[in-house]
Amino acid sequence: MYAEKVLSGMRPTGRLHLGHYHGVLVNWIKLQHEFPCLFFVADWHALTTAYDEPGTIAESTREMVIDWLAAGVDPAQATIFIQSKVPEHAELHLLLSMMTPLGWLERVPTYKDQQEKLEHKDLSTYGFLGYPLLQAADILIYRADKVPVGEDQVPHIEFTREVARRFNHLYGRESGFEEKAREAMKKLGGKRAKLYEELRNRFQEKGEEDAIEQAHALLDEAQSLSHGDRERLFGYLEGGGKMILVEPDALLTPASRMPGLDGQKMSKSYGNTIMLREDAESVTKKIRTMQTDPQRVRRTDPGDPEKCPVWQFHQIYSTPEVKTWVQNGCRTAGIGCIECKQPVIDAVLKEQQPMIERAQMYTEDPQLVRNIIADGCEKARKLAQETMRDVREAIGLDHS
Ligand code: TRP
Ligand code: SF4
Repeated sequence: MYAEKVLSGMRPTGRLHLGHYHGVLVNWIKLQHEFPCLFFVADWHALTTAYDEPGTIAESTREMVIDWLAAGVDPAQATIFIQSKVPEHAELHLLLSMMTPLGWLERVPTYKDQQEKLEHKDLSTYGFLGYPLLQAADILIYRADKVPVGEDQVPHIEFTREVARRFNHLYGRESGFEEKAREAMKKLGGKRAKLYEELRNRFQEKGEEDAIEQAHALLDEAQSLSHGDRERLFGYLEGGGKMILVEPDALLTPASRMPGLDGQKMSKSYGNTIMLREDAESVTKKIRTMQTDPQRVRRTDPGDPEKCPVWQFHQIYSTPEVKTWVQNGCRTAGIGCIECKQPVIDAVLKEQQPMIERAQMYTEDPQLVRNIIADGCEKARKLAQETMRDVREAIGLDHS
């Protein structure tokens, strides 16, 4: 059976904090058991905004990959690689750039937003405008079906779909397409072929979307089809030509509820983070000195957990019993703040323990990390090369 593929990338920001862990990595770790997954470091994307400060990318990449591994991304289940080590991304980006209208890029909301946010930097560059197209190439080159991303990235996935559609429309035609599609249909076998045709008619005559979905499921289950025939039959459903690039779906990552030490969202730029593998002493100190309900000046003053960032940590880390203990203890001044913080400290340290242990294995043996990355790059590159063969052929660049 054709398994749906998951792909996601992160720009190399160096060491990750618990916000990244709860927001992104926990989701990746879950997905790696459910689908074939590709996770990569988008180092070229980092250059679109940091072109004037190179020299940190290699180090940031290594630290970030160690954090992925420490968190439990498993190289035996997921393919971990680096964008710039698969130069086919750049080739696809170039070819897609030929057919991508400028207007499509200019109206991606992150374009203007980021330019305004980073106004100290000149981002009126060719590369920065092309950011979403490079991302589209990252996704399309693996024919990824699902892309786990946060809400801010959804327009980039929409854009990717439009680019794929345009590509298939422009280059997906081949001579004798109709005959080839009908030949492929026969290979489905009598019963399936008949059902496929019925579903195709239902879609083409009545526009029934669920007929398309059912037909896709039918094709997914058809084991004996070659890749080319499968593409033809996908393309034939909707009328057009061969489906060379696959339109991906965003897999919306639930917004992270991870608060920072000051109660705002945990973020490097707010300076309110706990790092994924921060040492116990430092974590303890940070939580001990956390701001609490400002009304609770003395130990004998009752407080209100709703006004206290520590309570937000309890909501993530504590059992119902502990939460009740906090609510009662705080409101009656039955417990002190240091006492209240202890279960949070214990829980954070407990969460970090296995990550610190795994990270230690990788920091002590950097060759281990290099091997994992080299392996992943090789696997990714094979997939990317397959797609590029089809892409070049479709455009007519298969000179011999
Ligand atoms: N733009 C993404 C971000 O900033 C990173 C990224 C690059 C990405 N290429 C991708 C994410 C492909 C998903 C798929 O978070
Ligand atoms: Fe915050 Fe706990 Fe102190 Fe109440 S007792 S103010 S919840 S730290």
